[in-house]
Amino acid sequence: MTDILQELEDRRADARAGGGAKRVEAQHTKGKLTARERIELLLDEGSFEEFDMFVKHRATDFGIDAQRPPGDGVVTGWGTVNGRMIYVFAQDFTVFGGSLSETHAQKICKIMDMALQNGAPVIGLNDSGGARIQEGVASLAGYAEVFQRNIMASGVVPQISVIMGPCAGGAVYSPAMTDFIFMVKDSSYMFVTGPDVVKTVTNEVVTAEELGGASTHTKKSSVADGAFEDDAEAMMEVRRLIDFLPASNREKPPVRPFFDSPDRIDHSLDTLIPDNANAPYDMKELIHKLADEGDFYEIQEEYAKNILTGFIRLEGSTVGVVANQPMVLAGCLDIDSSRKAARFVRFCDAFSIPILTLVDVPGFLPGTAQEYGGVIKHGAKLLYAYGEATVPKVTVITRKAYGGAYDVMASKHLRGDFNYAWPTAEIAVMGAKGAVEILYRSELGDADKIAARTKDYEDRFANPFVAAERGFIDEVIQPYNTRKRVCRAFASLRGKKLENPWKKHDNLPL
Ligand code: HXC
Repeated sequence: MTDILQELEDRRADARAGGGAKRVEAQHTKGKLTARERIELLLDEGSFEEFDMFVKHRATDFGIDAQRPPGDGVVTGWGTVNGRMIYVFAQDFTVFGGSLSETHAQKICKIMDMALQNGAPVIGLNDSGGARIQEGVASLAGYAEVFQRNIMASGVVPQISVIMGPCAGGAVYSPAMTDFIFMVKDSSYMFVTGPDVVKTVTNEVVTAEELGGASTHTKKSSVADGAFEDDAEAMMEVRRLIDFLPASNREKPPVRPFFDSPDRIDHSLDTLIPDNANAPYDMKELIHKLADEGDFYEIQEEYAKNILTGFIRLEGSTVGVVANQPMVLAGCLDIDSSRKAARFVRFCDAFSIPILTLVDVPGFLPGTAQEYGGVIKHGAKLLYAYGEATVPKVTVITRKAYGGAYDVMASKHLRGDFNYAWPTAEIAVMGAKGAVEILYRSELGDADKIAARTKDYEDRFANPFVAAERGFIDEVIQPYNTRKRVCRAFASLRGKKLENPWKKHDNLPL
């Protein structure tokens, strides 16, 4: 009997050893942790329950049957993050380079199916040389099985990918279909075709880091939502993100204890808007001052900085924030910012996360680059996302809300529930200067006349009251009181029920 029990322990030890001490050491030398070490950091201590530790591949070609390590290059199971259940898979680079075989894929699919059935997030820790070369099409089939589950799980359970090593070829498309992708700086990369193929086909010489490193994907391509210094920081930040999210679309986001009065007033906000209407100010300051304990989890911080997206809590409840950032491109909407915010709004709506929109937008960015790049379609994504969202929507216009961008940014007309404006708000078709130049073109030579016309226009439109007269703004509020007003607004919307008409699915402008 003891022998049998001992055999189990021996088998477990064998599986836990992964690709052996030498390969583990090589992994550490690269500054990377092993799959199991990562899971240990991600989950609450002692909460990991492993599945399929003894699964082995069944391939025979190219002599691979001589090597059948238990676990087959991926560690899968479930555990808790601050007491809340998640499913996790972590590819083990020390076993066949973490490459994906038929059985490796089956292990991932098993936990994805369970996550979907039981309503819990899936976290994927990717560190893999791609398709298991010895398995050919069986491996490709395995990928497609994972892809199909990514698609089915989308909008049902949160899916988070962390790229912690190579992720190349078609393998990138599984993370690409998850809600958030994070990368580890200097040790991870993602690309569809690597530097060698790029050189052969296009003659471009580029390093793996330049082609698909964390900096590329957080700043240029927007494929990744954030990048972290090392594996440990990545795991801690994923824990922090999970705390904001509901377990599935069947649940509301978690309500956490909070230590910040919803009635807190902040007189520094009364002077946040500069006297000069064209001077920038930092919208992040407003977000921090509204949030419980000033905590803001920013998504895509390094990309399209003219719009801010991320999560805060108000009275302990998660709220998604979208805010124009006047510090960058005057906070205008363009292709990148529209795409960034649209995806964020849709995530929030899919997972019942209310949306707070802070508006200071001078309009859409003009230019051939924008028009040729399809700003019409991309801008429409954000418009569409706001208009279809049925979650509670509270909007505060702090300064400019001009033109189509006024409509887009969660206006009353797109079913905004509470549309507030600060007294400094300017809601108009465009700024005074542009408007006067069009309306009074014949008087442009006369500086005095133009100055008088401009003042006229400003007096009429550079305020929130024209919109408030029509009920498009529900209330003009004092800046210092914004947290209290916004908290009360969201509290009043906790019972909100709104449904869109039945459809097979929508046809948003992709
Ligand atoms: C089987 C693999 C493997 C793979 C790596 N290994 N990739 N085994 N299939 N795809 C093995 C290596 O043989 C080696 O085994 C161990 O993993 C570590 O690999 P090294 O090359 O020593 O590591 P490193 O120098 O860090 O290089 C990592 C790497 C390189 C850049 C990922 O291994 C590599 O280029 N691999 C091939 C990548 C690739 O072309 N994959 C197929 C892409 S196509 P030992 O025993 O020596 O430790 C694809 C299609 C997906 O993925 C389609 C989905 C629809």
